[in-house]
Amino acid sequence: MNVLILGGGGREHALAWKLAQSSQIKSLTASPGNPGIAQLAHCTAHPGHADLTVVGPEVPLVAGVADQLRAQGQRVIGPSAAAAQLEGSKIFAKEIMDEAAIPTARYQVHDDLASAKHSLIRFEYPVVIKADGLAAGKGVVIAKSRQEAEITLEQMMTGQLVGDAGRRVVIEDFCPGEEVSFIALSDGQNIVPFAPTQDHKAVFDGDRGPNTGGMGTYCDDRILDAATQNTIMEQVMRPAVHQMAKRGTPFTGFLFAGLMLTTSGIRVLEFNVRLGDPETQVLMHRLDSDLGELLSAATEGQVHRVPLRWKPNPSVCVVLCAADYPALPRKGDTIAGIAAAEATGAVVFHAGTATQDNRLVTSGGRVLGVTASGPTLNEAIRNAYAGVDRIQFAGMHFRRDIGAKGLKRW
Ligand code: GLY
Repeated sequence: MNVLILGGGGREHALAWKLAQSSQIKSLTASPGNPGIAQLAHCTAHPGHADLTVVGPEVPLVAGVADQLRAQGQRVIGPSAAAAQLEGSKIFAKEIMDEAAIPTARYQVHDDLASAKHSLIRFEYPVVIKADGLAAGKGVVIAKSRQEAEITLEQMMTGQLVGDAGRRVVIEDFCPGEEVSFIALSDGQNIVPFAPTQDHKAVFDGDRGPNTGGMGTYCDDRILDAATQNTIMEQVMRPAVHQMAKRGTPFTGFLFAGLMLTTSGIRVLEFNVRLGDPETQVLMHRLDSDLGELLSAATEGQVHRVPLRWKPNPSVCVVLCAADYPALPRKGDTIAGIAAAEATGAVVFHAGTATQDNRLVTSGGRVLGVTASGPTLNEAIRNAYAGVDRIQFAGMHFRRDIGAKGLKRW
């Protein structure tokens, strides 16, 4: 089949890398793609008809791209605009969780600043304040004091922080614990779990500093034991898919639950309606099954018929970032050493890269995702950093502790 990937980040490069290995693929196109994807697929701003389209990011899904493509008779991996509200509106996601009895933090919804501020008396600190709409990762604030919470509400609800996305807010209890990314693929009725992953969102080692889109991930079955994975499927993923189908807006595509493992059980922090980035890099690196076959089955209501196999070795992805990221990243720095990194056995996924005068340069905050595996998590980490050591660009920075939190399980 002819497959189109919409997007141009590290997630989409990892999808292209895995799809390029599929026996089902006749041609691979990406729009817009990136210089890494261009080594595997035809990259174009104006894609034509595809047999199957995989939509990477959330913004086009919330805007209804999957509906448009389906209306043209195309097969799509990605939810309708109605189902994408699970990510597009934090309030909608909470409604679904309430209806389906999915465990989540206690919360209140507000569209009026005075009542939002007043309701703070019902919360302890830290408290979580979330913009209702899409906010490119900037819509969640953990306020440590009432004063900080009031300032955040003011900035969010008057549109200063994240524009109109923040006019309505969710205020919720802070859940302490360990965060896990749990992703599953649904065909609207059936849903199959992917291996668990953990992201590292803060920019600096030790989870310090401002949040980013994700500084690195690892994929290792030990993150969640089989019983907990089963509980997540039964208490979170299946009820969410069932509830969306019951409402007449079935969810097809990748459902990503950001979970907190707390001392009193699992809590859903958020739903995303797409694969994670950089979760996809380690998932595709570890996936043994044919992705083309799996995606094709998912568009035919048969996702559960393709057995999901994972390579036994854990995978680790270290994200290399441009100068000044996560503030406004600098662009145009020349990147060197990718071939040398790949010679170590690592796979280097491109994200914010561009070609300029025949040079590969930085063109976004998260530039590359260096991904490797090993027979133990420790060796996977060492192998990923051996690849990282070969790459240079001015201003490059990255975390040196990706995967370290998983070592306690070995
Ligand atoms: N890495 C987190 C996300 O993709 O939302």
